[in-house]
Amino acid sequence: MIIAIDGPAASGKGTLARRLAERFGLPHLDTGLLYRAVGRGMLLAGHALDDEETATLIASRLALADLRPDALRGDEIAEAASRVAQMPPVRAALVQLQRRFAATPPGAVIDGRDIGTVICPEAEVKLFVTASPEVRARRRHAELTARGETVTYDDVLADLKRRDARDAGRAVSPLAAAPDAHLLDTSDLDIEAAFRAAVDIVQGDGPVV
Ligand code: DC
Repeated sequence: MIIAIDGPAASGKGTLARRLAERFGLPHLDTGLLYRAVGRGMLLAGHALDDEETATLIASRLALADLRPDALRGDEIAEAASRVAQMPPVRAALVQLQRRFAATPPGAVIDGRDIGTVICPEAEVKLFVTASPEVRARRRHAELTARGETVTYDDVLADLKRRDARDAGRAVSPLAAAPDAHLLDTSDLDIEAAFRAAVDIVQGDGPVV
């Protein structure tokens, strides 16, 4: 079974994807890590973030086994990821990796921005997880503050809105809900309630588990 999860930053999709993977015994791939790894590679080597040729080269050399989530957090890397994710050859270089992961039995929970629309249009279950920008900014702000970062709520909100606009407005594989995706708005749900709703959707849609 393939469970495809898309949604904007800080919507809760990452936590839901991890917990669904655990619940249904499936491997999980957070595809944002791929774009973050390319963005980080560009930052580390001091390349301009519009250098498409270098970004594509970095993307074509990526392997899933090389992804180090702990080294890929942070807003500077997220911003760089969103920039390189606009480039069609970067996206093209990462497609097969993602499809192979999803197609390997017993399937996968795979989350990102274009999973239900482009990477796995055949997924048995598709979720589009959203929350209002204000709720997402509040969650992200609390997370950053807990990590000891000093950042204002207004700055977090502005960053999120800018990234959303870029991710949803790009020409290739924009952030979008597939027509057959279930919409899950987590604005008024805590993580337990959101998880229960997601499990209900999977059990209603997917093979009996
Ligand atoms: O999910 P995230 O915040 O880690 O993603 C970082 C950036 O990567 C995001 O702003 C857009 C891009 N991305 C994408 O374009 N397509 C995906 N499937 C996953 C992420």
